[in-house]
Amino acid sequence: MNIETVKLVCFSPTGTSRTVIESVARGLNPERIERIDITTPDARIEPLITLEHDLIIIGVPVYMGRIPALLTDWLNAIQAENTPAVCVVVYGNRVYDDALLELRDFMIKGGAILLYPRKSILTPSTCMMSKFSFGA
Ligand SMILES: Cc1cc2nc3c(=O)[nH]c(=O)nc-3n(C[C@H](O)[C@H](O)[C@H](O)COP(=O)(O)O)c2cc1C
Repeated sequence: MNIETVKLVCFSPTGTSRTVIESVARGLNPERIERIDITTPDARIEPLITLEHDLIIIGVPVYMGRIPALLTDWLNAIQAENTPAVCVVVYGNRVYDDALLELRDFMIKGGAILLYPRKSILTPSTCMMSKFSFGA
């Protein structure tokens, strides 16, 4: 897998999802990072378009056990051409229900490739993280 650009995507009103995906990206030490912060409505006007030599790392918080509903249209518009992706959901130590599966499904529908699922819970933080990894 030859990754040219990591597309670091987050919706993060209070900053935790952003911090977590920045840490994931730092661990990968990529040559080029493009940051796409979709927290404000203006930032969600353009769809995410990626190619197979990109890697998407996307992080969003869990709201009511789900992906924030206001992201649905933007997530449905993703055009990821065979792009590997890592999905991260951040939650407040209450419940994450199927939020991670929901984000995974959006990414697959948009064209991301599932290599294998992996879920990690980082403890003992109140901002634990779970993720699925996709890849070619
Ligand atoms: C409207 C709303 C709903 C939330 N629902 C949940 C939830 O169902 N389960 C949970 O564990 N945390 C919940 N939280 C907490 C957030 O998931 C948590 O604070 C997260 O780290 C925020 O991410 P951010 O810092 O990237 O904005 C909720 C927070 C808000 C504002």
